[in-house]
Amino acid sequence: MEFFIDTADLEQIKIAHSMGILDGVTTNPSLMSTIGIKGKKQIMKHYLDICSIVDGPVSAEVLSTDYKGMVSEGEELNDLHRNIIVKLPMTQDGVKAIRHLSNMGIRTNCTLVFSVGQALVAAKAGATYVSPFVGRLDDVSSDGLSLIKEIKQVYLNYDKCQLDTKILAASIRNQMHIINCAKIGADVITAPLNVLQSLINHPLTDIGMNKFIEDTKKFI
Ligand code: G3P
Repeated sequence: MEFFIDTADLEQIKIAHSMGILDGVTTNPSLMSTIGIKGKKQIMKHYLDICSIVDGPVSAEVLSTDYKGMVSEGEELNDLHRNIIVKLPMTQDGVKAIRHLSNMGIRTNCTLVFSVGQALVAAKAGATYVSPFVGRLDDVSSDGLSLIKEIKQVYLNYDKCQLDTKILAASIRNQMHIINCAKIGADVITAPLNVLQSLINHPLTDIGMNKFIEDTKKFI
């Protein structure tokens, strides 16, 4: 399973990268606005800054909502850096743009996916990644992890020459989301830094560590 960090914050990306377990980065317009990025020039520079930290897939989302705009932005983002994955929404224009970009050999990530039908369409359109939002489904009393399980089941029914899309579980809110996605066999999870770090922590590790430190003092 690959680990992506879900943030546009360069310091957080550096911390996750320094842990040696980071495979890629996902961003979205909300995450970019959180850190005060404004204007196209600044956005493009920011993607380059991210790509200079992590040598892996970096999802950059189109801001247009119409087919032509998405395709033109997608091509521009793809030309920016070899690690960029063009992120597009699960809308009719988005699907059309994914098919167009995919035909051109441009890698895409279909975002805002909340149903198996949407995941099937994303795969049919040739998306490299599909991003089902686990936490946001949980937020509305649905079951995000069941969706991951169902998408996996559907994709496994076909060989890679028919459907070749990776499941990128997004909107990951806690370590149990990650562990259960791993049990299901999601290809990738993308999570905030604190959730990735939470995988390392365990109270018994802390207790054991404190005892080792105290006992070390007795013989050094
Ligand atoms: O990658 C999508 C993700 O950023 C959504 O997460 O926590 O806003 O639902 P969240």
